[in-house]
Amino acid sequence: MEVVILPDQSAIAAVAADAIEALIRRKPAAVLGLATGSSPLGVYDELVKRCQSGGLSFADVVGFALDEYVGLPVGHRQSYREVIRREFTDRINIDPAKVQGPDGAAGDIPAACAAFEEALRAAGGVDLQLLGVGTDGHIGFNEPGSSLASRTRIKSLVDQTRRDNSRFFDSLDDVPHHVVTQGLGTIMDARHIVLIATGAQKARAVHDFVEGPVAAICAASVLQLHPHATVLLDEAAASGLKLADYYRHTYANKPAWQGI
Ligand code: GLP
Repeated sequence: MEVVILPDQSAIAAVAADAIEALIRRKPAAVLGLATGSSPLGVYDELVKRCQSGGLSFADVVGFALDEYVGLPVGHRQSYREVIRREFTDRINIDPAKVQGPDGAAGDIPAACAAFEEALRAAGGVDLQLLGVGTDGHIGFNEPGSSLASRTRIKSLVDQTRRDNSRFFDSLDDVPHHVVTQGLGTIMDARHIVLIATGAQKARAVHDFVEGPVAAICAASVLQLHPHATVLLDEAAASGLKLADYYRHTYANKPAWQGI
């Protein structure tokens, strides 16, 4: 796991966007794993800028979302399908037919999850997966206790996550209790994982998953087992890390050709 501590969100967005741009230049039909939440928004804005200036094309890119609420009506403003469309894919030249996510409005949720896994396989898997992290260490919507080998399935949210996400809804009561999410095993199949965390409210989760034991109680800790996981942090999110100085030194002295 590579930990990179950067001064602010725009530096984080630039580093993540550079990795995505390099990938697309190498492989124009790259498969991107798209996350919601506030953490990846700066990256999306930066990629939109690069696309609109004509330098970067998403024409052949394929996108897969991580997760979705169950029970929100199709087209609901806070459904992750709509958020990804609004925040990212409507603003770039990607083919909307090439973007999909787990279907939280399906009549048969297990069948929809299996179909989603099949679509991921058929696309050849995710090349680069963007992630945020919840205050309880969840990635996607894999709450504490999720099997480290799990695949796309339905989950129940813990109260803290519902409270954290209530800022996007009119009231806490409107936040669904159920979600569908790529499993930890599904996420781990991505060839490169780039997790972004900013702000002091993430410091404890970051400490737990980066430097604590690999354990289902902190889902993101499974990333310690991934051969190519990059964690991009601001100073506040990194404030609980024991080895922060070592991570800073390593990144500052990294050969430029290496990228993340
Ligand atoms: C939600 C999403 C996660 C996201 C998390 C953190 O629960 N399902 O994918 O990482 O929120 O969100 P934020 O980046 O807004 O802190």
